[in-house]
Amino acid sequence: MCGIFGIVTQDEQPLGPILIDAARRLTYRGYDSVGAATISGSKIDLRKDVGKVEDVAARYNFAEMTGSRGMTQLRWATFGEPSQVNSQPHLDSNGDMVGAHNGNVVNNVELRKEFIAEGMTVRSQNDGETCVHAVERYIKRGYEFIDAIRLAYGDLQGDYAFVIGRANDDKLYAFKKGSGMVIGIGDGFTCLSSDLPSILPLTRNVIRPQDGEIVTLWADRVEVRSVKDGKIIQRMPETVTESMDTVQKGGYPHFMLKEIHEQAQVARELIHLLDGSPDVQLLVEKMKSARHLYLIGCGTSYHAASVGSVYIAQLAGRAAIPVLAPQFIAQYAPAVGYEDVGIFVSQSGETKDVLNALEAAEKRGMACYGLANVVGSTLTKATSFCLPLCCGYEISVPATKTFTNQVVTFLYLAYRMAGLDTPPGLDTGFAHSTNGGYPSTGSRQRSTTSSGRRALDSIPDLMEQTIEMVGPQIEAIAKDINEWNDMYCLGYGATYPIALEGALKLKEITYAHCEGMLSTEFKHGPLSAVSKGFPIVFVAGPNDVPLIISGINEVKVRGARTITIGEEDARLRANGDDLVVIPKSDAQISALLGVLPLQLLSYHMSVMRGFDPDFPRNLSKTLTVD
Ligand code: G6P
Repeated sequence: MCGIFGIVTQDEQPLGPILIDAARRLTYRGYDSVGAATISGSKIDLRKDVGKVEDVAARYNFAEMTGSRGMTQLRWATFGEPSQVNSQPHLDSNGDMVGAHNGNVVNNVELRKEFIAEGMTVRSQNDGETCVHAVERYIKRGYEFIDAIRLAYGDLQGDYAFVIGRANDDKLYAFKKGSGMVIGIGDGFTCLSSDLPSILPLTRNVIRPQDGEIVTLWADRVEVRSVKDGKIIQRMPETVTESMDTVQKGGYPHFMLKEIHEQAQVARELIHLLDGSPDVQLLVEKMKSARHLYLIGCGTSYHAASVGSVYIAQLAGRAAIPVLAPQFIAQYAPAVGYEDVGIFVSQSGETKDVLNALEAAEKRGMACYGLANVVGSTLTKATSFCLPLCCGYEISVPATKTFTNQVVTFLYLAYRMAGLDTPPGLDTGFAHSTNGGYPSTGSRQRSTTSSGRRALDSIPDLMEQTIEMVGPQIEAIAKDINEWNDMYCLGYGATYPIALEGALKLKEITYAHCEGMLSTEFKHGPLSAVSKGFPIVFVAGPNDVPLIISGINEVKVRGARTITIGEEDARLRANGDDLVVIPKSDAQISALLGVLPLQLLSYHMSVMRGFDPDFPRNLSKTLTVD
């Protein structure tokens, strides 16, 4: 996840060491490239490249950089591969302005074309550069600097925070949309950052600007203005008391819990990004015209592929074969050809099993595309193109936000394949069948969303509501069943792979054995394991309630303790023990929401057992071995 830091000082001074320290404090967000710029009178000094802070800072001697204004940026690639030219900060055409951003400008591709047509010098693919040219455009049209920034804000779509400075000035300017930004006010300086850690050792007096506000920073004061009418907005600084470690974890005790809570926001950002991605339509066409469509991954990514397969069948009426990467080599590679399409799914983009499968598929001429979180990873380079998951850095070993964004991406693709997607801006209301023709076991007809919104756009809010609704109850259940070292997690249809994912999370971080299974299979053998109190979790899709109730009764009469995750339903309440209620939605979104209580259950059980969920024993976040 990119990070920015900027500082304005009273006098010219060596800013290099301050910028290096600030960059170091942003590294926990994850990055592939580093840059710094200082402004001294009419001179802008810009140094940047791919690599670690220590390496790039040493190679380009950041330490000698001086000025009265400075900025540093850590880049996590989304638009444009990691390279020197795509690193940030960026200059405008004439080298009079310098700026850097974090986040994603989703209309980057269109804006770049416009800027090139308007005669500007566009050097990179990166959307941070687009932010700079967006301001330059209005300067060229004769606007005052602050008005040019206000107008640029209107042109830049997405979720981001941006800082810009210019030669022969004494200020920096910043604004944000969707992403976080914090302003620091110190003794003889002001500063800004994407988040608190890079500011805290300098000052604890902060202002948190809102979307639609522009902040001007002088060395001794800051001014907040409304983008809409340019009027000044009064904002009093607050004093931050938290420790650095707490701040890096966003106030959460573990990265895993922080990342669970980040899921709604990264889903929001991903949907915006996919709306603006020219690759989506191309991929959808390829998926529709494929002879056979394979969704390939390992671990959590395989589970996301399996959810995707159900979505594609239910919504678009197409078969998509989910397959574990090594098994793809043995079972499918000998049979595939150029008419087939494979989507390789991976958080890291470096999993050896996945890359081996990719190699085998490419040898047979199969069309290969990717879905990865780490842009610039081997997978993103080795496929025709790769959609980014847009999650930023996932520090905790158990995948959470990357899983849900993989699932959201597949839902997005399934809607598009089915022609059920309403383009953004067209407020026609979302009208798709609640289960896409999937044989319904229930009789209800439910509207998917409130009118005027795509179902997709409701996902982030529903995720937030889910976490809020289930929190305390899941913690209590975790306490109750924590003594058990053997359990099952069962689902059906779209919730079957969700149950597999829940079981994997439990295994990864509680070290207990938890088996994920199709609920209807449980009676074919595992039923013999049930004894008094034996915990069995069911994930009930809204259309599968009668089927799940049969499963619940089969195990309850044999003494099991059942925990059902599903929408409020009198039948589920009457038949099982605990009902963990998630918000009402449709069959596909309900399955996605169902994973959130399972992530929280695993997290709490892990912590109650005295383990560190972020770094489970024996496991690695990126498995680059066979
Ligand atoms: C490792 C991790 C798992 C992950 C799997 C696939 O085993 O411990 O959490 O799901 O690799 O990783 P990928 O980066 O390809 O999604």
